[in-house]
Amino acid sequence: MSDIPTGSDPVVRVLTPGDEPWVEQAVTHLGRSAVTNAAEVFLRDPAVVAVGAFADEALVGFAYGYVLSRPDDAPMANLYVLEVWPDYQRRGLGSQLIKAFKKEVGRVSKLWLVSPVSPITAGFYAAVGAHAEQSDAVYELPND
Ligand SMILES: CC(C)(COP(=O)(O)OP(=O)(O)OC[C@H]1O[C@@H](n2cnc3c(N)ncnc32)[C@H](O)[C@@H]1OP(=O)(O)O)[C@@H](O)C(=O)NCCC(=O)NCCS
Repeated sequence: MSDIPTGSDPVVRVLTPGDEPWVEQAVTHLGRSAVTNAAEVFLRDPAVVAVGAFADEALVGFAYGYVLSRPDDAPMANLYVLEVWPDYQRRGLGSQLIKAFKKEVGRVSKLWLVSPVSPITAGFYAAVGAHAEQSDAVYELPND
């Protein structure tokens, strides 16, 4: 496992190959099952940008998304998951995770933050300067 910061201040950093155990911890924390080798494939995917927040020598926040090529414009980025563990919320870590994600994806034509609709997300996204996009609804097509 890559080094974990040992200082008392929280640290937010990009996750890279070697950080698979942290990704697996995050998956478990999010209530999903870790699938064999999935974290390794995930961290080696060049489209993936994953960020972790560490405090008290543990993972306390996780965010990931993708940089996607477009045929008509510069690449765009989607942030799909952003979560700070309850005991560490309202200390600026969510904002730092977004900042680190944004820095890592660099200049993109659009940066979409995909999230459930809730008063928490509305309050948080307003605080980081994001606005609701008037766009198409998402439809899910089930597997056969
Ligand atoms: C949304 C979430 C990531 C915010 O993380 P965080 O580390 O607490 O956020 P920050 O400390 O950077 O908050 C920055 C500002 O956002 C706003 N904000 C944060 N949480 C909020 C809440 N629950 N309700 C209303 N506004 C909120 C506040 O303005 C806050 O500034 P303040 O603490 O000075 O008032 C965290 O609440 C979380 O993980 N929630 C559960 C998962 C979730 O809903 N994820 C959403 C994206 S998928």
